[in-house]
Amino acid sequence: MTEKSEARIAQKGPFAVEVEAGKAYFWCACGRSANQPFCDGSHEVTDLRPVRYVAEKTGKAFFCGCKQTGNKPLCDGTHNGL
Ligand code: FES
Ligand code: FES
Repeated sequence: MTEKSEARIAQKGPFAVEVEAGKAYFWCACGRSANQPFCDGSHEVTDLRPVRYVAEKTGKAFFCGCKQTGNKPLCDGTHNGL
């Protein structure tokens, strides 16, 4: 994998965020955003793009911080093996 297509680990654990039902969020897939876990446009230097997520219900969502999850954009526990 080249640096351009490699996601950086922003944090080895999820970011718990209060989300609102019906609202769209753009999860940072590249790990370079300064506004984790969301995209701030820093992916421009990579081949990676953010993942859109629409919250089904209001409450806490656990967004993947390690960027290695198999269930983007949410944490699936993959960070435990890093
Ligand atoms: Fe990435 Fe948990 S933080 S899988
Ligand atoms: Fe990481 Fe946009 S800044 S996907």
